Amino acid sequence: MDVEIRRTAPGDAEDFVEVIYAALGQRPSPDRFAADVADVAAVRGWHALAEGRLVGVAGLLDLRLTLPGGSRLQIAGVTEVGVLPTHRRQGVLTRLMTALLDDARERGDAAAGLMATEAPIYGRFGFGAADRVARVEVETGDASLREPPHEEGRLEIADLATAQAELSGLHERVCAVRNGMVSLSLFRSRRRYRDAESEVGGLGATRFTLHRDAAGTADGLLGYRTKLDWTRSSGPRGDLQVEELWASTQEAEASLWRFCLQHDLMRRVTAYWRPSDEAFEVRLANPRAWRQTLSDGLWLRPLDPAALLSARRYGREDGLVLEVHEPGGAAARRFRLEGGLEGASCVPSSASPDLSLDLAALGSVCLGDAPLERLHRAGRVEEVTPGAVARATAMFRWSPAPWSGAFF
Ligand SMILES: CC(C)(COP(=O)(O)OP(=O)(O)OC[C@H]1O[C@@H](n2cnc3c(N)ncnc32)[C@H](O)[C@@H]1OP(=O)(O)O)[C@@H](O)C(=O)NCCC(=O)NCCS
Repeated sequence: MDVEIRRTAPGDAEDFVEVIYAALGQRPSPDRFAADVADVAAVRGWHALAEGRLVGVAGLLDLRLTLPGGSRLQIAGVTEVGVLPTHRRQGVLTRLMTALLDDARERGDAAAGLMATEAPIYGRFGFGAADRVARVEVETGDASLREPPHEEGRLEIADLATAQAELSGLHERVCAVRNGMVSLSLFRSRRRYRDAESEVGGLGATRFTLHRDAAGTADGLLGYRTKLDWTRSSGPRGDLQVEELWASTQEAEASLWRFCLQHDLMRRVTAYWRPSDEAFEVRLANPRAWRQTLSDGLWLRPLDPAALLSARRYGREDGLVLEVHEPGGAAARRFRLEGGLEGASCVPSSASPDLSLDLAALGSVCLGDAPLERLHRAGRVEEVTPGAVARATAMFRWSPAPWSGAFF
């Protein structure tokens, strides 16, 4: 099948959105469709045509990624990927991906990132799972604290407009303190609250609670939905679902979690896309009350490994030569990396390598998760110089664990 790839023209937004819904097997309401068409203007879209007809689309967003140590790097966010069910598995995404990655390179992005609907899709293009996100479930009856948290600020019920107004500033403050965080795109900010006023899946409309510090600045925001449930024998056994919980201080984070777990009439609290190392778990007297399941979050594809690796900080002062293999069998590239807690440099090198790995494995270790030693045990990293795996593991590891924060 001959496939032509071209940029989405401004007048093509409706076709773009139609392909996305067809790929997902959904039919939106006319209002939802019109809102999506308006939003797609914020995406750098690409069209794939077969015999002159549109069969696939994909888009790019300009985003910033927080690296270990706090610097923020411009990356390309791959989003809105869809191929018509009549044309899948014929190489359409593969052609689109080549165009997307070329587009990102031309823009000077050091990496591309995405969140995958299905985990097996993107590894072949050089994307590696770079953080792990948690689905958390807590039985409130078991969730008392080891000791009361220190409280100087206050909680405040907020409406949707206030939550919207506070979100972007607060989210930026969280980006400053957590490696792996991806800036909020304008595109997602508009979509974020569009169902807030409606019931979803039997849960009520979203309610918001803010945490303000002693000076009155918002340092935490919680969005949640509830479902009430009673039986005569069991009493109240409601569900509280956390839609979002952003906090730029430990006090705000603990206070908002406590608000959820101590909410009257709720037996269970669930939350999705949370960090894998949430501090609140170890505030509990009974940490077994906290049950979490991990999954992949952000997938990262290095485009300019030297820029990416020199922008982060490392857990141990050391230097290594890395040989990085490109997908599709292109020639491997070598880089001399020197780094530590204060800074790093990474430059092309012709020296013999200490370690050899593919781009997806490099994407997986860039944000401080996925111990390199574990990838080595799985046969995905080759140790050329004895001891190099242990040294690289200590260099790349970072605490806290990376957390990408929100779907884009
Ligand atoms: C996922 C999707 C974009 C793939 O598009 P496509 O044009 O079929 O992909 P390609 O034909 O280029 O596939 C390239 C390779 O990836 C594999 N692949 C593609 N989708 C896959 C999936 N969902 N699971 C496992 N492998 C997959 C193909 O089998 C092919 O492998 P091969 O080269 O060994 O044969 C398309 O199926 C789709 O639109 N799905 C529904 C919407 C969606 O999930 N979008 C992704 C949003 S992140």
